[in-house]
Amino acid sequence: MKVVVLTGAGISAESGIRTFRDSDGLWEGLSVNQVATRTGFGRNPELVNRFYNQRRRQLAEVTPNAAHFALAELEQKFGDDFLLVTQNVDDLHERAGSKRLIHIHGELLKKRCTWCEQTTPCDVDLSAEDHCAKCGREMGMRPDIVWFGEVPHGLERSYEALQRAEVFAAIGTSGLVEPASRFGAKAKVYGAHTVEINATETAKSESFDEVLRGPASETVPRWVARFAGR
Ligand code: OAD
Ligand code: ZN
Repeated sequence: MKVVVLTGAGISAESGIRTFRDSDGLWEGLSVNQVATRTGFGRNPELVNRFYNQRRRQLAEVTPNAAHFALAELEQKFGDDFLLVTQNVDDLHERAGSKRLIHIHGELLKKRCTWCEQTTPCDVDLSAEDHCAKCGREMGMRPDIVWFGEVPHGLERSYEALQRAEVFAAIGTSGLVEPASRFGAKAKVYGAHTVEINATETAKSESFDEVLRGPASETVPRWVARFAGR
């Protein structure tokens, strides 16, 4: 049995990290163009850094919930036949014990040099004036976040896994951002049984074989329990 799981902001909601598109939104009064595009960063790097610095600091105040732990347990069971693809930039999956995971939208705990493209760990505030520890050049560090118009990380590995998947689950994602929004349809074409696990209906609900409604901290452990004994 090969299992691929896609997660979005909804899995971290009960840990206290706000989602993007639910009513209270995450953008702190800032537009997507300001904080989630390369142009926005070019215009005002300090504003963009402040935005992600704040989110990075927030990681110290939150902890994984039962849904994160359940997915780590599922990975334990399936080993290399399991892949977690997350759109989240927090580290809650890792802290729950997940190891086989791809952060397709990047990570708050990494920074990238726009000169030499080296990605390095980042657990402190980032400033546009920071220099690169690898190539030594100045003024080129940015958060390792995939912004709108940029190519997500690890897509090839994700697609390979989707082709082989027998079960695919999309958890806590609104299905509005490509290419992840198309993963369910892709997995289905390749023969997987597809499940949407979400608190509410989404734009993609109808295209899944099965839908589980409710808060992730309850629905995900319940879904994972189905695999007991396999
Ligand atoms: P969204 O904010 O678009 O969607 C969150 C989804 O989680 C919604 O469908 C909610 O119904 C659901 N949800 C909320 N609370 C839940 C709970 N407790 N249990 C289960 N489901 C719950 O977030 P994403 O789909 O992750 O990209 O957004 C995709 C991308 O858009 C993000 O990765 C981000 C943003 O632009 C980048 O930062 C590059
Ligand atoms: Zn560099």
